Amino acid sequence: MEVRVQKIRKEFGRFPALDDVSLDIRSGELIALLGPSGSGKTTLLRLVAGLESPTGGMIFFGDEDASKKSVQERNIGFVFQHYALFRHMTVLDNVAFGLKVRPANRRPPAAEIRRRALDLLDLVQLSGLEKRYPAQLSGGQRQRVALARAMAVEPNVLLLDEPFGALDAQVRKELRRWLREIHDRTGHTTIFVTHDQEEALELADRVVVMSNGAIEQVGTPDEIYDYPVSPFVYGFIGQSNCLKVTLSSGEIWFEDRPIGLRAAHEPDGSATLYFRPHDIELIDGCGGCLAGLVTGSRRVAGTRHLELDLGRGHPSVEIELPPERATAADHTRIAFRPTKWKLFRKEEKQQQAPQEVETRARELARTGT
Ligand SMILES: Nc1ncnc2c1ncn2[C@@H]1O[C@H](COP(=O)(O)OP(=O)(O)OP(=O)(O)O)[C@@H](O)[C@H]1O
Ligand SMILES: [Mg+2]
Repeated sequence: MEVRVQKIRKEFGRFPALDDVSLDIRSGELIALLGPSGSGKTTLLRLVAGLESPTGGMIFFGDEDASKKSVQERNIGFVFQHYALFRHMTVLDNVAFGLKVRPANRRPPAAEIRRRALDLLDLVQLSGLEKRYPAQLSGGQRQRVALARAMAVEPNVLLLDEPFGALDAQVRKELRRWLREIHDRTGHTTIFVTHDQEEALELADRVVVMSNGAIEQVGTPDEIYDYPVSPFVYGFIGQSNCLKVTLSSGEIWFEDRPIGLRAAHEPDGSATLYFRPHDIELIDGCGGCLAGLVTGSRRVAGTRHLELDLGRGHPSVEIELPPERATAADHTRIAFRPTKWKLFRKEEKQQQAPQEVETRARELARTGT
C-alpha cells in the first residue's frame, strides 16, 4: 500500500517533535528513516500507525485519509524499538496472536491461523521452535518472532522501529540481509527506523535523513552518499572533511592561494568546502593544491587513513589512500586535491553539522581563542 505523509506537524506540549514533514512512500518500497536520537523517527512511525494523532497535516493510505481509520483498520504490522514478546505464550501463540484477537467476522478458522503462523515461522527460519517460550530463544531469534508476528496480520504497512537495535553487530548484519530477502519475497511496504547509517544504506530502497523534527534529504543510498544536499547530511553520512575557503572570480582559495578547484558560477565570498577522505588525488610538486603535514596514520582494512595538519587554526583533514601509496611517516608533507567536493555557503546552512561543531571545538582547543 502506498503511504503519503503531507505537511505533518506534531507537538508535544509546545515542543515540535515534527515540523512540516512530507514524504511519499511507494507501494512495496523499503524505506529507512535515519537520524540522530530525538530527530523524530519514532514519532513519525507512530503517526503512520495511528498511535499518535498529528497536530497538523494529513496521512493517506492509498487514496484514503488515514485519520478516519482506527489503529485496527489501518492494519499495520509493528515491531517496536524495545520489543517484548508475550512471555507466557509460546512462539506459535505469539505469532498467531494478531489473528486470534480479530473480531469473529474477520477471524480465520483456528486451523488456518495455525497454518499461517507455521508458514511464517518457516519464512523467518524458526521452524521447529514453535513450542518454545521467548525466554528459551536468543535475542536474534526473538526479533525474528517479533517480525513474524508483525507480518501475520498481512499488514498494509510494516513498521519496524530499530528492530535489531539491541543485538550485536554480527547478528544485526545477518538479520539485515535476511530482512531484505523477506521483504523482496513478501513485498510489504516497509518503513524501517535506524540510527545506523550502514544499516540504512545497505538495506533500503530509499533513505530518509531526519534531523530536528524535519527531513533533510530523501534519496537512494547512492544519492544520499554521493550527493548530500546539506552540511548536516555530509557530516552525518560517512566520513567527510570541511574547510573554510574563499571564492574569488570563480576560483577556490585556501588561505592565500588558489587550490586548483573552480566553481565558475559562484559569487565571491567565503564558503565551506566539503569532501570525503577517499575523494582525493595526490599531487606532485604542488602549485595550486592543498597540502599538510602527516600527524597520524592508521591502517583500516584495505586502506590507509592519514591525518593531516593544514596549518594553525584549521581543522585536521583525513585522507584515505591505498596502503602502498601512503608515505606514512610523521611530518611528511602531502599535497593533494579533492576530486569530488561540494561547497556550502553560509546562508544555505540551516544548522551546524555536528562535525563542524566538533571541528570548531578542536580549533578552539588548539588555538586557545
Ligand atoms: N510522548 C512524548 N512527550 C513529550 N515529548 C516527546 C514524546 N515522544 C517524543 N517526544 C520528543 O520528541 C522528540 C522526537 O522523539 P522521537 O522518539 O521521535 O525520536 P527518535 O528519532 O525516535 O529518537 P531515538 O533514536 O532516540 O529513538 C524528542 O525530543 C522527544 O523527547
Ligand atoms: Mg526512536
